[in-house]
Amino acid sequence: MASLFFFNLNMKHLNHIGFIFFLFSLTESLALPTKPQDIDHLSATQKFIDENTAYLTIIAVSQYVQEASFDEVEMLVRAMVDHKNRCLADSTLPECSKAANEAIQDSICAMEGLPQKRNFSHCCDNASIPRRLCFFFNKKANVEFLPPFPTLDLEVKCQSYKNNSESFLNHYMYEVARRNPFAFAPVLLTVAARFEEAATTCCEQQQKAICFQVKAAPITQYLKALSSYQKTVCGAFMKFGPNILNSINIAVFSKKFPKIGFEDLTSLLEDVHSMYDGCCEGDVLQCLRSQSQVMSHICSKQDSISSKIKECCGKRTPEREDCIINTNKDDRPEGLSPREPKFTDSENVCQERDSNPDKFFAEFTYEYSRRHAELSTPELLRITKVYKDLLEDCCSRESPAACYRHAEDKFNETTERSFAMVQRECRHFQELGKDALRSHYLAKFTKAAPQLSVEELISLSKEMVAALATCCTLSEEFACVDSLADLVLGELCGINENRTINPAVDQCCKADFAFRRHCFERLKADTTYVLPSVSALVSALDADWCQTYQEDLQDKKDRFMVNLVKWMPEIMDEERLCLLAKFTAAGEKCGQVQEPEACFSPAGSKIDNESQAAEKQI
Ligand SMILES: *[C@@H]1O[C@H](CO)[C@@H](O)[C@H](O)[C@H]1NC(C)=O
Ligand SMILES: *[C@@H]1O[C@H](CO)[C@@H](O)[C@H](O)[C@H]1NC(C)=O
Ligand SMILES: *[C@@H]1O[C@H](CO)[C@@H](O)[C@H](O)[C@H]1NC(C)=O
Ligand SMILES: *[C@@H]1O[C@H](CO)[C@@H](O)[C@H](O)[C@H]1NC(C)=O
Ligand SMILES: *[C@@H]1O[C@H](CO)[C@@H](O)[C@H](O)[C@H]1NC(C)=O
Ligand SMILES: *[C@@H]1O[C@H](CO)[C@@H](O)[C@H](O)[C@H]1NC(C)=O
Repeated sequence: MASLFFFNLNMKHLNHIGFIFFLFSLTESLALPTKPQDIDHLSATQKFIDENTAYLTIIAVSQYVQEASFDEVEMLVRAMVDHKNRCLADSTLPECSKAANEAIQDSICAMEGLPQKRNFSHCCDNASIPRRLCFFFNKKANVEFLPPFPTLDLEVKCQSYKNNSESFLNHYMYEVARRNPFAFAPVLLTVAARFEEAATTCCEQQQKAICFQVKAAPITQYLKALSSYQKTVCGAFMKFGPNILNSINIAVFSKKFPKIGFEDLTSLLEDVHSMYDGCCEGDVLQCLRSQSQVMSHICSKQDSISSKIKECCGKRTPEREDCIINTNKDDRPEGLSPREPKFTDSENVCQERDSNPDKFFAEFTYEYSRRHAELSTPELLRITKVYKDLLEDCCSRESPAACYRHAEDKFNETTERSFAMVQRECRHFQELGKDALRSHYLAKFTKAAPQLSVEELISLSKEMVAALATCCTLSEEFACVDSLADLVLGELCGINENRTINPAVDQCCKADFAFRRHCFERLKADTTYVLPSVSALVSALDADWCQTYQEDLQDKKDRFMVNLVKWMPEIMDEERLCLLAKFTAAGEKCGQVQEPEACFSPAGSKIDNESQAAEKQI
C-alpha cells in the first residue's frame, strides 16, 4: 500500500478532484456544543465510541508515540478495552471519572519501560508543562525516521486479511496513524473504513493489484487533502491563537452556508472552536464527540443553514459527518446584493468598529465571504486585513467616510494581485509541464530555505506541482490553487512548533497568516546559508548518475537540482535545466558529462564566476 502515501494526484482522477477541492469548503465544517441538542446523536456517538475503542486507542497512541511498536500499541489497546469494560460494569469506580484522553495517557505512562524506551518520559513526570500539551508537542510532523510504509505481496496481504481481518485492519490503522500524527480521528476512521471496503472487494478478484490501485488512489487523496488542511489550520491556531481560527472558520462556513444568519453562525462557531481544541491537540474522543455535536447543531437548524444537507442529516454517525463535510456549497441566497453597504457607505463605520472590533470584523468577513464564495479562504482573510488596515488609517483622518468609501477598490486590487499570482503559476504549469515545473519549485524552495533537508524540499515541490496539476484549468482555478498552495506553506511553517529555518522564512511564517503566500513570493535567495561541502556536491552531481533502475531517476534528478541550487543559487533556471539535461544524458549512457560550460551564457563568464565562488568555499 505504499502508493497510499504519495501525493500523486493525476489528471486521470479528475472526478475526485472536485471532491478534494470541496474538502476545503469543507473540513471546514467539523465541533462541540455545550448543550446536548440531540440526545439521539449523542448516544449514537457514544455507542460508536464504545464499539471502536480499539481503533480509537490505536489512533491516540500511534499519534502520540509514533515510535511505539505495534505490539506495544496492542498492549495498550488491551488495557483500554479492560478499562472500558470495568467502567461499563461499574461507572462509580474512581478511575472512571477521568476523561478518556487522560486515561489513555495514564496507561501510556504506566507501561513498564515504555516512556524511557520511546523517549517521552519528560511528558510523564513533568509538572512544568501540562502532560496533554507535552504529548502534543512530542508529535513529529516529519516522519522520515519511520520506515517506509510496509508493502506486502498482495496475495499475502489478502490471506492475512481473510485470516484475521480485525488484526489486519488494526495494523493498517497503526501504520497510517503514526505517519499522519495530526490527522483528525474521524478522518482516519473514514480512511480505515474505505480501506476495509477496498480490501473486501479487491481480495476477491483476480486482478488484485489493479483493483487496489484504482481504489487506493482516492483514499490517499482524501487523507492527504484533509490531513494537510487540518495541519495548516491547527498550525495557524498554534501560532496565531484563537482569533485566526475564528476568522478562518467564519470565511469557510459563510462560503459553504451563505444563507446562515450571523447570530446562528456565531453560535455554531463556538462549537466548531471546541472541536478544533480537541482535534488539534490529539484528543481523539473529544474530537469525535465535538465533531458530531457540530453536525447535530447544523442538522438541528438545517432550514436556516443549507438546503444541501437534508440527506446527510438523515444518516447516522459517522457517515453523517463525512457526508456533510463533502456536500457542496449551498446556493447563493436570492436577493443577496453583490455588496454590503454598511461597511463602506455608512457614516458610522468607525464608531461601530470601536464599539466592538472583534464582532465588527467578524461580521465583515461573514458578509464578504458569503458574497464571494468563489474566493479562497486565504484571500477572504487578506481582504479583511486590508479593510482593517484601511480603517486604521481612515478613522484617524478628518473625514473618514470619504476615505473608506473607496474600500472596494482596495479589495479588488488585492484580489487582482492574488489572481495574477495564480495565473502566473498556472501558466508555468501549462508551459513547463510537470518535470520542469518540479525543477522550478525545487530551485525556488531551495533558494528560500536551503537549510531544509533534500527530502523535505522534494516533498514540498511535489506537493506544489500536485496542487497546480489538480487546480489549473478547473473553473474554480483561483480558489483551488490559492488554498492548496497555502497548505504547502502551512507544512513548511510547522504545526506544533515554531520552526527556525532562516530569518526571512521565519518572518513569513509568523508575520501574517493571510499574506503568507505573498510574503513567500517576495522571498529572495537566502544569502546567509553556508554552502554544503564540495564533496557533498560532487557526490551528488556524479556519484549515482550511472544507474540501471529507471524508477530512481526522478529522485536522482530531484536531489541533483536541490544540491545544484544549494551550491549555485545564482545561476539561471535555463542554465540549471541545461546542466540537468547534460547530467541526465551522461547518466543514461554512463558517460562523461559533455561540455557543462556550454550551459552558461555568455559562454565562460558565468562559470568562471561560479568557480571562483566555489574556490572560496574550498
Ligand atoms: C529524546 O527526546 C528529547 C526531548 O524531546 C530530544 O532532545 C532527544 O534528542 C531525544 N532522543 C532521541 C534518542 O530521540
Ligand atoms: C520538564 O520539561 C522541561 C521542558 O521539556 C525540561 O526542561 C525539564 O527538565 C523537565 N523536567 C522533568 C522533571 O523531567
Ligand atoms: C492464518 O492464521 C493461522 C492461525 O491463526 C496462522 O498460523 C497463519 O500463519 C495465518 N496465515 C497468514 C497468512 O497470516
Ligand atoms: C470590484 O470587482 C468586482 C468583481 O470583479 C466588480 O463587480 C466591482 O465593480 C469592482 N468594484 C470596483 C469599485 O471596482
Ligand atoms: C509559537 O509562537 C507563538 C507566537 O509567538 C506562541 O504563542 C506559541 O506558543 C509558540 N509555539 C511554540 C510551540 O513554542
Ligand atoms: C559574479 O556574479 C555576481 C552575481 O551574479 C555579480 O554581481 C558579479 O559581478 C560577478 N562577478 C564576476 C567577476 O563576473
